[in-house]
Amino acid sequence: MPMLEAIKWVKDRVYILEQRLLPEKIEYLECTDYEEVALAIENLSIRGAPAIGIAAAMGIALACMNIKASTAKEIYDKLKPVFNRLISTRPTAVNIKWAIERMERLIKNNLNLSPDKLKKALKNEAIKIQEEDIEINKKIGEYALPLFKNGCTVMTYCNAGALATGGYGTATAPMYLAKEKGINFRVIACETRPVLQGARITSFELLQAGIDVTLITDNTAGVLLKKGMIDFVILGTDRTVRNGDVANKIGTYSLAVLCKENKVPFYVAAPTSSIDLRIKSGVQIPIEERDPNEVTKIKNVPIAPEGIKVINMAFDVTPAKYVTAIITEKGAFLPNHIKYINNSEKIEKLRLKL
Ligand code: MRU
Repeated sequence: MPMLEAIKWVKDRVYILEQRLLPEKIEYLECTDYEEVALAIENLSIRGAPAIGIAAAMGIALACMNIKASTAKEIYDKLKPVFNRLISTRPTAVNIKWAIERMERLIKNNLNLSPDKLKKALKNEAIKIQEEDIEINKKIGEYALPLFKNGCTVMTYCNAGALATGGYGTATAPMYLAKEKGINFRVIACETRPVLQGARITSFELLQAGIDVTLITDNTAGVLLKKGMIDFVILGTDRTVRNGDVANKIGTYSLAVLCKENKVPFYVAAPTSSIDLRIKSGVQIPIEERDPNEVTKIKNVPIAPEGIKVINMAFDVTPAKYVTAIITEKGAFLPNHIKYINNSEKIEKLRLKL
């Protein structure tokens, strides 16, 4: 079965895989307006940092098509509330901001275009963001591939897979590549409470690809690490900042501390679209808080007393000291070197051989 796509642009409509229904049902939402895209991001129909960045870009392209204007400048002015709406959907992943800034730059550089030409340019840019993301993920896969030795067992968390990106995934990219190369390996997927991206999405995606995957509850991770059953952990990120601190799905921090305690390498796969050099340290990353129902119910079935108080932070920050290396499309680097990611000369020298 070919890899499912989280999002696709077909004939001036955006189709979003309704990930809340996985693994039982494969259904696409058809979006004709940016507000439908914004709602899909907000309610996790589409999720994963790169995928929601692509969705935001496609949302802008859709919005633009529905705007009546006689100049490019008028389109730009009418798009400003759209940018704000899209950026308000999920605060932690920097990819939404990154994608909006890229679309905005394109508009600013093309204010001389006719409205129709600008609309076309924005659509092409959104599609290009998705295509580039797939290539970026493949490069991450190539840099991470040497970690995959015959017979190894790899742990991952949440879903940093094809369905969290334009395609191929970040943490899963080396898995797909290793499988293609005939390397024999096994993946342990943590279920990832509260909304179970590991159980519902990662295990589904890897099984579909014929990869040997085993599902565990999140609280089983420690004992497997302690028993020496895991060679390394690889997972994704929603925002990695100047000092190498990494925001990712809640529970990532606990896993990183467990890795350090048990001397298991902890790798983060991070496309540069998720690196935010404007922020110095992880404490400044906004952490999304979500609906308590995600904790008190599973698939709408209550699992806790009604009215119970809940803390539901969607992400946590793992300090750089717990991260063995950050693997980007430009190579793998020590977390304290990520601040040089845009300095091509320096980064060339700092690239790690995994
Ligand atoms: O709440 P989600 O499902 O959007 O969280 C996703 C993650 O935490 C992923 O690990 C991260 O976005 C990286 S995806 C390549």
